Amino acid sequence: MKLVMIGAGYVGLTTSACFASLGHEVTCVENDPQRIEPLTRGEIPIFEPGLDDLVRDGVAAGRLRFTDELGTAVGRAEAVFLAVGTPCLPNGAMDLSHVEAAVRQMARYLHPATLVVVKSTVVAGTARRLRSLIAQIRGQADIKVASNPEFLREGSALADFFGADRIVLGADEQSAAGLLDRIYRPLARKGVPTVRTSTTSAELIKYAANAFLALKIGFIDDVADLCEAAGGDIADVGRGIGLDRRIGEAFLSPGPGFGGSCFPKDTRAFADTGRVHGTPQPLVECLVDRNEQRKRRLAQKVIDEVNLHDGRTVAVLGIAFKGNTDDVRESAALTIVPMLRRAGLAVRAHDPRAARDGIAELAGIVRCNTAYEAVSDADAVVILTDWDEYRRLEPERLATLMHGRVLFDFRNLLDPSRVSLAGLRYFGRGRPEARVATATNGGAASLRETAAASPA
Ligand code: UGA
Repeated sequence: MKLVMIGAGYVGLTTSACFASLGHEVTCVENDPQRIEPLTRGEIPIFEPGLDDLVRDGVAAGRLRFTDELGTAVGRAEAVFLAVGTPCLPNGAMDLSHVEAAVRQMARYLHPATLVVVKSTVVAGTARRLRSLIAQIRGQADIKVASNPEFLREGSALADFFGADRIVLGADEQSAAGLLDRIYRPLARKGVPTVRTSTTSAELIKYAANAFLALKIGFIDDVADLCEAAGGDIADVGRGIGLDRRIGEAFLSPGPGFGGSCFPKDTRAFADTGRVHGTPQPLVECLVDRNEQRKRRLAQKVIDEVNLHDGRTVAVLGIAFKGNTDDVRESAALTIVPMLRRAGLAVRAHDPRAARDGIAELAGIVRCNTAYEAVSDADAVVILTDWDEYRRLEPERLATLMHGRVLFDFRNLLDPSRVSLAGLRYFGRGRPEARVATATNGGAASLRETAAASPA
């Protein structure tokens, strides 16, 4: 089928390449010259495992092309997908101006049989409003608008596309639903379940799914605090509750607060939608606040500990909001690093992929090429991102290179007993020091001694 994707951002680009590999003929339209130029030269502007090959294959097979020419592409399409950004306004509401601008630009080029499909995450009722907007511009209500939200995680987007838990097809007319069915038939034939709904339900599914997942993370983060205070171990508690199939094991890893381009923005917009409709969502409102507080509280914990030992330099490992991506949007580092800097601490940072300069929150830090280079002479190490290479860090080597003796593992990547044996004081998330002490056969007293013996 002939498809057009408007927007070659993370979702648009990935989905275009995936559609092309299903056999569709996809034209991806992008009006930002900085994005489109590398793509037309065959360069992929984002890091997503497997995407380079998929794009290259699609282009070589003649099924995927990139252009900044909206009119011609749209005029020939059976379906036009909208994958433009929907950022958050300062009051938490969603900014739909890019979606509306794209619709205004293309409305007059659309063939009456073309289906417009909203892939961008949008507030409930948007597809219906866009349908009215297009009708107003064209002077007739011939164009149908459907909703087909995406559930792609950065870092595992291809697997999430081809092996999706479900595909949500939101359509208010039978013909629109039929067209969406045809687009996704290759995946449905392989057993991927489809959920057919109205456009508004599809829009709500996307928000409710992200809000629920974010609540799950916020909850386990709180339980991790409780574990630290009461002496439990979050890994055991997470597994013990996650094996209950009604709860599920995924998304129960505590961290330094969730980030990324989706959860923080979508939870704020979900709460805002609740307020607008007179049905407040207090659970999600509370989650939004707690997640911000968590990042600040963890930064303060580092500052207090480093100050206690008259330390000066902190090594931050991980700038991206999670492993396997170069995306830094709303990452914990963007809150934690500025707080460390304001407290007068020097920051040496490393990230395997997110190495871009020009991020205001990271001004004044020293960028290092390797994790070991970053920790050299540092008074404390703070692991913020769950990169696999950080799981393989050798505590003994860290201890030799560091000046101080404190390691904050906010992703629980390292073995606490091995870190302690290497002579470092270990702070994880929801892993009580008592357990570390037991594991090292040293008892609580030896831990205190380790801390006291740290170089000032
Ligand atoms: C999320 C959803 O998982 C996707 O289904 C959705 O399509 C996407 O948002 C979107 O709306 O476009 P993504 O933002 O790529 O995907 O990242 P996740 O893997 O969901 O992680 C989000 C944040 O939660 C990260 O900061 C991650 O480190 C954190 N997290 C995740 C935890 O702290 N603990 C966990 O157990 C899982």
